[in-house]
Amino acid sequence: MTIPEPAGPEMAGPEMAAPEMAGPGMAGVHAAWLPPEAFRAVGSRRTLVLGEGRLAGTVHEEVARACARHGGSVRRAGDGPYDLVLALTVAEPLPEAAAGARPGAPIGDEGYVIARTDGVTVVLADEPAGLLYGLFHVVRLGERAFAAERPAEHHRPATRLRMLDHWDNVDVHPVMGQVERGYAGGSIFWRDGAPRGDLARVRAYARLLAACGVNAISVNNVNVHATEARLLTDRLGDVAAIAGVLRPYGIRVHLSVSFASPVTVGGLPSADPLGEDVRGWWAEVTRRVYDAIPDFGGYVVKADSEGQPGPFAYGRDHADGANLLAGALAPYGGVVHWRAFVYDHRQDWRDRSTDRARAACDHFAPLDGRFHDNVILQVKHGPIDFQAREPVSPVIAAMPATRVAVELQVTQEYTGQQRHVCYLAPMWREALGFRPRGAGGPAVADVAGGGGGLVGVSNVGDDPYWTGHPLAQANLYAFGRLAWEPRLDPAAILDEWIDLTFAPVADGDIERARGTLHAIMDDSWRVYERYTAPLGVGFMVRPGHHYGPDVDGYEYTPWGTYHFADRDGVGVDRTRATGTGFTGQYPPPWSQVYESLADCPDELLLFFHHVPYGHVLRSGATVIQHIYDTHFAGAEQVAEARRRWQEAAGLFDPALHARVSDLLDEQVRCAEEWRDQVNAYFFRKSGVPDARGRRIP
Ligand code: GCU
Repeated sequence: MTIPEPAGPEMAGPEMAAPEMAGPGMAGVHAAWLPPEAFRAVGSRRTLVLGEGRLAGTVHEEVARACARHGGSVRRAGDGPYDLVLALTVAEPLPEAAAGARPGAPIGDEGYVIARTDGVTVVLADEPAGLLYGLFHVVRLGERAFAAERPAEHHRPATRLRMLDHWDNVDVHPVMGQVERGYAGGSIFWRDGAPRGDLARVRAYARLLAACGVNAISVNNVNVHATEARLLTDRLGDVAAIAGVLRPYGIRVHLSVSFASPVTVGGLPSADPLGEDVRGWWAEVTRRVYDAIPDFGGYVVKADSEGQPGPFAYGRDHADGANLLAGALAPYGGVVHWRAFVYDHRQDWRDRSTDRARAACDHFAPLDGRFHDNVILQVKHGPIDFQAREPVSPVIAAMPATRVAVELQVTQEYTGQQRHVCYLAPMWREALGFRPRGAGGPAVADVAGGGGGLVGVSNVGDDPYWTGHPLAQANLYAFGRLAWEPRLDPAAILDEWIDLTFAPVADGDIERARGTLHAIMDDSWRVYERYTAPLGVGFMVRPGHHYGPDVDGYEYTPWGTYHFADRDGVGVDRTRATGTGFTGQYPPPWSQVYESLADCPDELLLFFHHVPYGHVLRSGATVIQHIYDTHFAGAEQVAEARRRWQEAAGLFDPALHARVSDLLDEQVRCAEEWRDQVNAYFFRKSGVPDARGRRIP
């Protein structure tokens, strides 16, 4: 089937047959990484669950459901022997095997210890949330959890806040649709201006998220429109209902709020952050929020950004703005996620001195130290906007006295819109492992782990496969796993996802399924990069919906995303010597590395430098030849991926296989379009022929 190109971002994914595999009680919805078969090892055993509280109840339910299906049993205390014990450390009396695994030090809020001694697998936790995460660890291990003795391992999340932001609107927005930048259908929370009556889907989602480690969700778009602004006030009950469904899986609800709410929903004349009446309004509204949702997480705010209201209107700065909301939330332990995505989206393209990449640091670095303790500055991982290749944002290193959260885009706005296979874990792993102050300094993951956390923009909708492209489920899974443990290897995460998701695949075939999926997915981000914008220059997408190529689409617009190609060369000069000075926002060694034409990594060359087409890269190729070579190679690799997938028919559920096949057809078409437009554009600009004589249209 040929999938038409979208007319705009409001287009949902292609319509295809509903999947056959269903989760518990979710007919017609794919079970993702929790098909019942994934619980076979746990469900066929004798298990004791010891612990009180709501989340311990969830663990009990999960085990009971697995046992009912796979023939095991849930035992009472004293009714041994057991194969598996899941217990809180405070439980009395602890069975012998569990008592032996108890560590000397605290396990921590969400942590757990897993061990196997004398034929008993033990999960111990101080708090019920740890028990839940420990259970899912055992599920991931499958039979390996029961195969051999296992010394005690202590697991705890690298960061406390592991959050997904939904860019969901309650109403269908005339331009952006129901889910802004959503490629998987409508919202799982909202429909036709109201909450969905049946929250079973939300419950299934919560389960999936708990199984990969996510513990917070913001349930509405950062661009807060009129209806959504009222979620804070008279529509609060809708949010409370969602919170009630997420709570048993250890997930807190957050809300995106408009900075102008005191005016737009409160009827005050001003939203000035220093106004007493404004402060009082936020305090009162927030008190009511906590009355309705005692474990409410806090607010997410996009202020003075792309037209959203903010403190600048009152001559105040962003510390004033963020601290206002922080003050209202502080009595209840809530936090404000204040987004650093502040730049001039109405700049004059003729003005070569304004550099969008600089904007966040210019605005926020001078405010370091002024934010209240419960303000979290939420920074996109790159300085521009979720391109397939960007350097790490300099803001992350520039705010040592501020809690910083790093924001990743799980939804594939700029990485193929869930029509293309693009496994993002390798990109995220690279960003999280980057050390802004050089080898001896902290990694990005350490900064995020220092109190801010990791935030992903969700890629989920009401599509039967959750994510439109079935293989895009792996990105959601990987986001959670990396938020829990940023040092995990992307290929190992993919193995976990494959083994869980495709647990129903017959034993002998799982190896082949794994081989196919690794061949298609492991390198898919780099493949995507090859056939799209070259060497870190970014964009070149169709304006508005951002799908498919348009090299000059943004070149003469106010958005600040330019490549500056002319007949002689291409790239953005962001050096201190001759350009915008952006390289100076990095501490050493990167301020020097990026400044230097000789040292700048090839993949970021055009982000930092404007060079002639004949410039020789560190790889030895000229820039122009690199553009031709990577575009031919990238499109060919997509065609190869499609061949691999076609050979694997029979290994996968037929409906899933068919959907991925259709999407790969579209990816091949689109990659060829990218290849031809980019190559033709640069051939026509430069007049330099391809050294290998291939046809360029
Ligand atoms: C991107 C995206 C917008 C979104 C914005 C944001 O620019 O295209 O749809 O609102 O990011 O992160 O706020």
